[in-house]
Amino acid sequence: MRKQNLYSIILLLSCLSAFSQNSKIPSSVENIEVKIDSVLSLMTLEEKVGQLVQYNGSWDLTGPASELGSKQKEDNLKNGLVGSMLNVLSVEATREAQKLIMENSRMKIPLIFGYDVIHGYKTIFPVPLGETASWDLDAMELSARIAARESVAEGINWTFSPMIDVSRDARWGRIMEGSGEDTYLTSQVGVAKIKGYQGDDLAGDLTIAATAKHFAGYGFAEAGRDYNTVHLGENELHNTVLPPFKAAAEAGVATFMNSFNEIDGIPSTGNKYLQRDILKGDWDWKGFMVSDWGSIPEMIYHGFAKDKKQASQIAINAGSDMDMEGGAYESSLVELVNEGTVDLALVDDAVRRVLRVKFKLGLFDDPYKYSNPEVKKNISYEDHRKVARTIAAKSIVLLKNEKELLPIKPTVKSIAVIGPLANDKDAPIGNWRAQGEANSAVSVVEGIKNAVGKDVKVKYSLGTALGTSDRGFLLPLEINKTDRSGFKDAIELAKNSEMVVMVLGEDAFQAGEGRSQAKISLAGLQQELLEEIKKVNSNIVLVLINGRPLEISWASENIPAIVVAWQLGTESGNAIADVLLGKYNPSGKLPVSFPRLVGQEPLYYNQKNTGRPSNDQHVTYSHYTDVKKDALYPFGYGLSYTQFEYGEVQLSGSEINSEKNIEAQITIKNTGKVKGKEVVQLYLQDIIGSRTRPVKELKGFQLVELEPGESKTVTFPITKKMLEFYTANRVWEAEDGDFNIFVGGNSRDLKSSEFTFKN
Ligand code: BGC
Repeated sequence: MRKQNLYSIILLLSCLSAFSQNSKIPSSVENIEVKIDSVLSLMTLEEKVGQLVQYNGSWDLTGPASELGSKQKEDNLKNGLVGSMLNVLSVEATREAQKLIMENSRMKIPLIFGYDVIHGYKTIFPVPLGETASWDLDAMELSARIAARESVAEGINWTFSPMIDVSRDARWGRIMEGSGEDTYLTSQVGVAKIKGYQGDDLAGDLTIAATAKHFAGYGFAEAGRDYNTVHLGENELHNTVLPPFKAAAEAGVATFMNSFNEIDGIPSTGNKYLQRDILKGDWDWKGFMVSDWGSIPEMIYHGFAKDKKQASQIAINAGSDMDMEGGAYESSLVELVNEGTVDLALVDDAVRRVLRVKFKLGLFDDPYKYSNPEVKKNISYEDHRKVARTIAAKSIVLLKNEKELLPIKPTVKSIAVIGPLANDKDAPIGNWRAQGEANSAVSVVEGIKNAVGKDVKVKYSLGTALGTSDRGFLLPLEINKTDRSGFKDAIELAKNSEMVVMVLGEDAFQAGEGRSQAKISLAGLQQELLEEIKKVNSNIVLVLINGRPLEISWASENIPAIVVAWQLGTESGNAIADVLLGKYNPSGKLPVSFPRLVGQEPLYYNQKNTGRPSNDQHVTYSHYTDVKKDALYPFGYGLSYTQFEYGEVQLSGSEINSEKNIEAQITIKNTGKVKGKEVVQLYLQDIIGSRTRPVKELKGFQLVELEPGESKTVTFPITKKMLEFYTANRVWEAEDGDFNIFVGGNSRDLKSSEFTFKN
């Protein structure tokens, strides 16, 4: 009773200070810390552990559910023994859950509600890999801001996004959820997303907490098999995997999520080096770490803990603050502290972190702040769709355009749209679709019909329809493997049309969690269909709907035009039509290499030279004997309807040091006939290092728009910071020596120069 009164006084004081319910004044950090101390001092051990427990609502089970029944869950909520819930969707539902706490528990500490808002909430944007292909950070920030707004309208105040796992293996189903193979690009996108979700102030009415996930190394699952063991040396860990997470921590991301995988024998959830030493120690990050779904008890299966109790002990010691639906902390943490196996200070630290995020979100001012039905009334989903269309168009990558087949000429009067995804309204929504409705995307057929005049005949034929999947979970449709009954119609249609748009690729749930594949060629009968159509009409534009790089070597040799349209979300078909018909001149660039053969995976541009480098493509011992070693389409690649000519790289000096930077300049000219946008990319190579360095690494990029005939000079500052890496001294530093600098429109075709660095 006494404690309750004290708590009321604290709350009252809070309200009188800068914290009034309607106050827009951001709470100062010191202020929050004082309040956290007060709250913590009033909490029982049981209540503290409760803050570290997260329950699932009733939606989107992505793993084994807690052993507790729902009645028990409700009682625990009433007793204030739960800190967070995930997958509780709607302002009514979050209000109900919050009421259980606020009207019954002693401490009345509000819940925080999490959800996987990965590429939009209701308005669906391109899957992250696709959106990254836009290289447009403002656009990516904007789509996150919109997703945050739509989430708040449904009671959500915490997204488990962005996923910033560098991933270089197209077999891994979750490659769709990240920003591809490059560390620098992934870092930039992660920061843009965090800014979009969180805004300048977490307490804002339309902002939500973001999550940097999965910490760490998840994208390096061996052989691309989800959840698989990760072998990651110190060099790769620090120089490739961790930088996006450091950037996220510096950008003030509210929470981190750890990962399912182990690295070098230690599951990330139980990895003290990663979570305590690096993240909370070296980087001094103050947010909280949520486990991945059940990843604390999963350490039992890893063979790292004998039971839940030991798993809890390992996890809390290692710095995992909140247990996502694992039932481990709630069943054993109190006992572990009471018997002296776990230090209370560790629990206090974890609770402090959780409370900090709740204070910052403004939940202590108004626990129902995010359960406000008025928010939805002020949202214009129509406006959001317009933004989705623009971003989708920017994400499209043109891989090939022979005979200038694209943009489709106004003289073309009959277009056949063929393929199982031609009129599919679901595949473009993709996996991790939050509350994006099934079958709600604009299909390619619809998009083209919307765009062309009445005098153009647009007819479609599936060739091979989607069939029921035997994949189990979620039971969606999948690309058909056996049904050729539609081939005849499709061939007939192709014969009688001036040109064919073939829409092939992956079905809605082919990529995503637990969706790894050993084959990444066109699934089912699609390749066969494509070859049959080619026999009767060679004016084919191949449009790929995909969440991962696909193996398209045959198409690359035989089909004149190829467009990578990813899973572009709600406005997919309209955006594709914008590009095919020339309303939007494609400007996307691949954030991930497209292989010649799946056997090349993992494949990435920033490899090492090895002791036997060879730049030509002839077969040598260090290559393959049956295929060239490089990508079919490399990282950074993408064409436009115009052409860009690059001048030489001009450096303002040949030496840089701690005090003196230099600048690199290059002039780009639009030599074609239409206006276009180019992503100018800057790569550096540290020629000799105390650890061997990649052949080149992306260090900057700029988007430049040019009218036909126009030239612009792009300037990149070259700073010491850009030369730093995790050296053999186990610190980030720049080493003296010579560097190559490369500038160009993709990671393969580059102009170069060189400079020297001296500390
Ligand atoms: C995934 C996470 C996700 C969580 C909650 C897990 O299976 O790995 O990325 O945030 O489920 O849905």
